[in-house]
Amino acid sequence: MKTIFFLILGLGLCFSAFGDSFESEAQKLAQDLKVNLVKNLTHKIEKDGVVKAIPFCHENVKPIAKEAAGERVAKFEFGRTSHKVRNQMNRPPVWAESYLKEFQGKLKSDVTKNFLLIEHEGKRIYLEPLYVEAKCLLCHGEKVSAQVSEKIKSLYPQDQAIGFKQGEFRGFIWVKEK
Ligand code: HEC
Repeated sequence: MKTIFFLILGLGLCFSAFGDSFESEAQKLAQDLKVNLVKNLTHKIEKDGVVKAIPFCHENVKPIAKEAAGERVAKFEFGRTSHKVRNQMNRPPVWAESYLKEFQGKLKSDVTKNFLLIEHEGKRIYLEPLYVEAKCLLCHGEKVSAQVSEKIKSLYPQDQAIGFKQGEFRGFIWVKEK
């Protein structure tokens, strides 16, 4: 009886240790960030239309992400990056460059890895590829409306994040231990 008790306790500890691993924590954080960003953006588009959703995105991405991360901001840094950025603040960190090269131009259907775990200067980093879905085309696609295009150019004069096709690799969401 005792043995079984300790066996169960041991298994429980194993699983909780596994649950706390960098990989699963980073994956969960990336998921929470994605869900919250998409939820807020979709809501804004439905309520006020695409053109108004652009400045909303401009001002609110960071606060939304911070709120979604909650206490985890103490432990992790996170963000989005791409080979073609809209906001210059999202320009690739050095450790992301070779992975962006590897993924750029690829389609979701060609890629087998759902995420990458890398290390830079002793810190672990989780990278998850993001792909262009139908709803992203409104602001990142090949045929963006004149009004949307104008709004984007006024806020992001150096925008490169345009001309994407559905299913194409758009960039990474990343989580790095502090
Ligand atoms: C309403 C227009 C709009 C839609 C729809 C939209 N985006 Fe964006 N996207 C933006 C804006 C504006 C920025 C710049 C945000 C900022 O200032 O940080 C951006 C930035 C990004 C970035 C960060 C890298 C960069 O270029 O600065 C990624 C990655 C991204 N979008 C992916 C997506 C994906 C994937 C979708 C679909 C699920 C999507 N976006 C839908 C407007 C949009």
